[in-house]
Amino acid sequence: MVKKAELHVHLEGTATPALVRELAGRNGAELDPTTFASDGEFRWDDFWDFLKCYDKAAAAIKSIDDYRAVTYDYLRRCAEEDVIYVETFSSPDHAAAAGMSYVDHLEGISAGIDDARRDFGIECRIIVTCVRHLGASSATQVARQVAQNPHPYVVGFGMGGDEAMHHPADFAPAFNIVHEAGLPTTNHAGEFGGPDSIRATLEHLPVVRLGHGVRAIEDDQLVEELAEKAITLELCPGSNIATGLYENYKSHPINRLMEKGCRVTISSDDPPFFATSVGREYEQTAKAFGWNEATMQQITQNAIEAAFCDEGLKEQLLAQL
Ligand code: ADE
Ligand code: ZN
Repeated sequence: MVKKAELHVHLEGTATPALVRELAGRNGAELDPTTFASDGEFRWDDFWDFLKCYDKAAAAIKSIDDYRAVTYDYLRRCAEEDVIYVETFSSPDHAAAAGMSYVDHLEGISAGIDDARRDFGIECRIIVTCVRHLGASSATQVARQVAQNPHPYVVGFGMGGDEAMHHPADFAPAFNIVHEAGLPTTNHAGEFGGPDSIRATLEHLPVVRLGHGVRAIEDDQLVEELAEKAITLELCPGSNIATGLYENYKSHPINRLMEKGCRVTISSDDPPFFATSVGREYEQTAKAFGWNEATMQQITQNAIEAAFCDEGLKEQLLAQL
């Protein structure tokens, strides 16, 4: 099987409904009953409702050991699909809402990474994210925590949340704090925003990758610019289909973006919410476009080359391909 690498997945969004229920039961957290549908899966009906459902599920992750369990369980599932490297987003704002400190949430995630490496041989690093719709001052607070608490597994900074809220320029102070601390950055842009949202991100934030960036396809000149600047796109086809951006894998722009010279990668974003996994994303995308194993392996190589981890780890990962 083709070895895989993932650059874009939200850790709180990897917890399955079963794990969320188990954690809530264990730590006495009250789960909002609207979190789940009658079949037991997460219940949401559009992107904004998904963001709310995400918050409700994340509220069950309340302790260092909960974060360890969520990380370990996700990496176990990834290793079963020949994923060799995961770069996961963590959200200190969600951790804080559940009563946890920045340092404690990282301790839990790091323990999960260490345990998964020991048991499954998979590697993982962390990109700390802020949440766009919480505004610039929350983002700056998160950025300060990142800069003031260097951690060997924290390799980057990013921003998720509602792309329609605020302007990228508002977040320049936050992004510049981590950039000046020497960490690379990525931002969700061109998911629910169009080409202008991507242009504003490139103009105001020191990003080297884009979360999604898929809607660049609506502007040929922008696609050329992304290819020329070698900005890696963290594409998540199944996520885009689940949230209604595209009808199916065949109509997703990933193949066209690749043919136009963009550096594309494949990720799962929030797998149990979108009924997917890294393995399924590779498989469905390859099937839709008739990709062979060499193309899939190139996607993995793109991801490792664009990863935010250190060069030594990249060499080890590339040697496994
Ligand atoms: N947070 C979790 N998943 C997200 C997504 N797909 N877009 C923006 N923010 C998110
Ligand atoms: Zn995302």
